[in-house]
Amino acid sequence: MANVAESAPDRYGVMGYPVSHSRSPVIHRLFALQTGQDIQYELLQVPPEKLENALTQFGRTGGKGLNVTVPHKTAVAMLVDTLTERANIAESVNTITFREDGLHGDNTDGVGLLRDLQHNLGLSLEGSNILILGAGGATRGIVQPLLNAGAASVMIANRTLSKAEALVDHFSSFGPVYACRFDDVPRTVHYELVINATSAGLKGKTPPYPKRAVTATTFCYDLSYGLTPTPFSRWASAAGAASSVMGWGMLVEQAAESFMIWRGVRPQTEPVLKQLSITA
Ligand code: ATR
Repeated sequence: MANVAESAPDRYGVMGYPVSHSRSPVIHRLFALQTGQDIQYELLQVPPEKLENALTQFGRTGGKGLNVTVPHKTAVAMLVDTLTERANIAESVNTITFREDGLHGDNTDGVGLLRDLQHNLGLSLEGSNILILGAGGATRGIVQPLLNAGAASVMIANRTLSKAEALVDHFSSFGPVYACRFDDVPRTVHYELVINATSAGLKGKTPPYPKRAVTATTFCYDLSYGLTPTPFSRWASAAGAASSVMGWGMLVEQAAESFMIWRGVRPQTEPVLKQLSITA
């Protein structure tokens, strides 16, 4: 609901460390303009040791909602009062709503990814074999939604095998999920979709990703994004992938879902996605 003209706009923001690179303020301002909502959206750079205080302070000073980004998503899942089922499964929160009865944690990353893959990019995940590279926080938010969307299998390949195995333990009750090292990705499986969920690209690195997993009919998707192709997206193109797409769409879709949770209005994502690629 729009505020009356005299009252201050409701406050929202994104909390991370570092956070200066975040596109969330631009996206939420575009959503607010489009839907006629009067909101304010801030960048909040908060180191881990100050996280709990910063959350309390934001709520005390009238803050209504926060997005949470690296490295706070798992810590926040333990600090909020209630969790949605999907945030509980992921043990990770990217959206907090400050309510009278406490802090409510949700995770819109999975649904954001699915909307981009299925709706924007027209992929069918039903019966597909999916390879996820990386076993950190980003992977945690997407495994269950991908299984739920009908994936035949999800293989998590990681530099550190034990971390991938821990995720398999956590998610195996939701469907067929496996773990391996990059070198051990099975040659016998055809992966329709390869998702980069490592943070290597953020540091400009291209680890020895498994080339054998990419064929001329493999769709490659990087959860990271940039104004120029990311290291993974360059690697995937060079490996001969059918398509190599960066995660701008997921970014905008997860934000739209957060906006919907906070404001009760779903913004259109397509114009924002187009505008972002010009203004980002
Ligand atoms: P988190 O998301 O849990 O905070 P992270 O340190 O950002 O963790 O790493 C996320 C993922 O990127 C992990 O799977 C990590 O691999 P490890 O589990 O082996 O640490 C992966 N990653 C980061 N840098 C990498 C690199 N240079 N090469 C390969 N994988 C890398």
